[in-house]
Amino acid sequence: MKKCSDFFDFLISHAKVYGFIFPSSEIYGGLNAIYDYGPHGVELKNNIKELWWKSMTQLHENIVGVDSSILMHSDVWHASGHVDKFNELLIDHKDSKKRYRPEILIQEYVKKNFLDDPKKKEKILSRLSKSLDKQDLIDIKVLIDELCICDPVFKTKNWTEIRHFNMMFKIRNEKDLFLRPETAQGVFLNFHNIVKSSRMKIPFGIAQIGKSFRNEIVARRFLFRMREFEQMEMQFFVLPEEEIKWYEYWKKNRLKWHLELNLGYDDKTYYYQLCDHDHLSHYESAGSDIEFHFPFGFKEIEGIHSRRDFDLKNHELFSKKKIRIVEWKKNYIPYVIETSLGLDRLFLAIFSSSLKKEKLKNGKERIVLKLPYFLSPIKAAIFPLVRKDGLQEIAKKIFHDIKIRHRLVYDEKESIGKLYRRQDAIGTPFCFTVDYDTIKTDTVTMRNRDSMEQKRIHIKEISKIIKKETGFEKILKKLSIII
Ligand code: GAP
Repeated sequence: MKKCSDFFDFLISHAKVYGFIFPSSEIYGGLNAIYDYGPHGVELKNNIKELWWKSMTQLHENIVGVDSSILMHSDVWHASGHVDKFNELLIDHKDSKKRYRPEILIQEYVKKNFLDDPKKKEKILSRLSKSLDKQDLIDIKVLIDELCICDPVFKTKNWTEIRHFNMMFKIRNEKDLFLRPETAQGVFLNFHNIVKSSRMKIPFGIAQIGKSFRNEIVARRFLFRMREFEQMEMQFFVLPEEEIKWYEYWKKNRLKWHLELNLGYDDKTYYYQLCDHDHLSHYESAGSDIEFHFPFGFKEIEGIHSRRDFDLKNHELFSKKKIRIVEWKKNYIPYVIETSLGLDRLFLAIFSSSLKKEKLKNGKERIVLKLPYFLSPIKAAIFPLVRKDGLQEIAKKIFHDIKIRHRLVYDEKESIGKLYRRQDAIGTPFCFTVDYDTIKTDTVTMRNRDSMEQKRIHIKEISKIIKKETGFEKILKKLSIII
């Protein structure tokens, strides 16, 4: 446990020092569970978005995109069930004034205290599960009392009753206006316009990337659970009788997509597992999570849900407008299979599985961010070996000649060894160094981030190598096969 939290502290600090993630409003003391992306973070995040967007819209002829507004008509959230049902359970501790999710308190307690008694553990968890299904808040509270669960800091049992807590952020002074808690509703509201304008035929999908907001009770673990975050969602509209077929298809497709990112390098299957939902959200009739092995254990990274006609039917009811597919002699509300991936969680998965401390042959240690090349914030760095004898001018010329094609940096601020280490730490796949031989032979040394091997190549080759090795083409080719 200590090891995991040490690594996590190191990760958070690395993300800050190297310009990936900063705490929001830091000079004012920060804001709980809100983070900003720094210069390298935003590049990495944009690359992740681009890959997902291309995977969805470019590789599937029957998926189109949309970018809907964050604020929507207040009736949307009544129709979608979020006003009544988008709740978490909440319990307050009267001494510490801290808020907890009671089911998490119980699960964590049982995990910690009944390691050697699996039968008892199972019995308690099954009782919890039944009470959650029945929303029997009294029994959940009784369970907390029976287990004598204390506040982790105050070590007392001074709990309030359990109650429901709505997770949506309401906008002050605006009657019933909310920040959206999922991007999906913007897709459902645009369904009709997209069918008409894009001439889409069932089955087809609508993809969207955008911000969502949730008033999380226990917001923690860095980017994992935030109050403002981004989702990459795709709603796929199908014939009702083909619900199961497409639900199974998208579960497999999305898991393969994650595996193709090749995170973690060693045994890649170890990093993912697919789990069916024990408790369904108010909108879904079936659901599974793709879980990733984060530094704090297996946790959900993406959800695949069958929402059937829950949303479109309710929007018909509330708006009194028909939202239907009219084809041949059929007139029906299609079913929806949804894939919902948290962009920030994927960022954290990529960042945590790529960050390594490596022992070098000379006994020293290096920190290296072994990102997949196509996601690296900076694709290549150009350095002069020394700041004299015209080497800077040649290096700058190379940089300016190819910067329109690739995201590069030019750096001359430190010794070559330190420049390499800095690029390792931000995950740059290649460094090109101009030295005295460059003047005679028009060649530079090319150093690879992972092997640290160096070889000489002609200046003319630089751009081609960067394109071939760090572009999206290779990975998109692989991903196009899984469709
Ligand atoms: N439209 C369906 C939906 O929103 P969800 O399971 O509530 O489903 C989907 O969320 C994904 O969004 C999750 O798998 C997770 O990756 C991400 N997500 C949800 N809440 C989050 C939070 N508070 N912080 C960061 N990511 C979150």
